[in-house]
Amino acid sequence: MAAHRSTRGKRRFDDDGWTPSSEPDHSPVADDLIDDHDDPDEHVELDDELDDEPAWSSYRDATKGPEPVPAWVVTDPRAIDTDHGVLKTGKEADVSLLDRRLTAAHADGDAEQRCWLAVKQYRSAEHRMFHRDAGYLEGRRVRRSREMRAMATRTEFGRELIAGQWAHAEFAVLSRLWQAGAAVPYPVQLIGTELMMEFIGADGVAAPRLAQVRPDRHEAADLYEQMREVLRRLADAGYAHGDLSPYNVLVDDGRIVLIDLPQAVDLVGNPQGFAYLRRDCDNICTWFAAHGAPHADPAELTEFLLRSVPGVM
Ligand SMILES: Nc1ncnc2c1ncn2[C@@H]1O[C@H](COP(=O)(O)OP(=O)(O)OP(=O)(O)O)[C@@H](O)[C@H]1O
Ligand SMILES: [Mg+2]
Repeated sequence: MAAHRSTRGKRRFDDDGWTPSSEPDHSPVADDLIDDHDDPDEHVELDDELDDEPAWSSYRDATKGPEPVPAWVVTDPRAIDTDHGVLKTGKEADVSLLDRRLTAAHADGDAEQRCWLAVKQYRSAEHRMFHRDAGYLEGRRVRRSREMRAMATRTEFGRELIAGQWAHAEFAVLSRLWQAGAAVPYPVQLIGTELMMEFIGADGVAAPRLAQVRPDRHEAADLYEQMREVLRRLADAGYAHGDLSPYNVLVDDGRIVLIDLPQAVDLVGNPQGFAYLRRDCDNICTWFAAHGAPHADPAELTEFLLRSVPGVM
């Protein structure tokens, strides 16, 4: 097993089977996860891996997200991390739910604090299908040739390196975009192949994906306006999402948040950049046009975004 093996409990919410054209999935909400303690086998698996020691917050030893750190982030090293299980098993990563809490028992009279985090654990196991690896490896150089070779031949060490680089790439993009004021989760911390970010939802209940939302015309128009604005911020920072679909957009109480950004495309440096941008616009406009925003036009959106890319128009 790889060095960064996750100790998080595996749950039954694996929706690997969907395709973009399929009916919206019904991804789990944390309510289900938290109440779902009736399977004795799961207890055995979890209990085997946990000991009696509390899991102290890993924040102190992690690479931290950008300044200013939002006030809701629990940074106190006396806080405890509690794993609430896997939200979704993807092709390349597992996303689970964690709460970080400074309880009365550890607070020494300070106020209790709590924040919910989404933990994205990039997978390095052999069966993982990294459909994004090829382009990534072409585009970037690793300093040491031993590492380059290991990645090319997919030894276990090489796979671990690739997974770590994807986690690092997503952390870097989220940091940059969050600082640019785009609606993306705040990247709280990075350790190896594990990225922890702002959990989008309320009280541990995940926000639905855009693909699950059925807006009326008024709501659809509002969501589309928000989509234009977040994409404009990305373009302004020189990025296209690169894998935009109604599955990589969350709707948190009417507010759009983009997720799943490790492959974000550099619109100026990447010769394929505009093609990726156009594909993103096609994908998202198809959904909007079919769900109450008939004016969503990929050509118009692409041109609007290109006008924001620094030095392009
Ligand atoms: N910050 C977050 N807050 C709440 N839920 C999240 C967050 N990040 C991810 N999720 C949930 O986990 C799912 C998978 O996340 P993401 O798309 O980033 O991973 P992925 O493994 O690359 O996905 P896929 O292979 O399905 O494209 C999301 O669709 C969403 O339901
Ligand atoms: Mg995704």
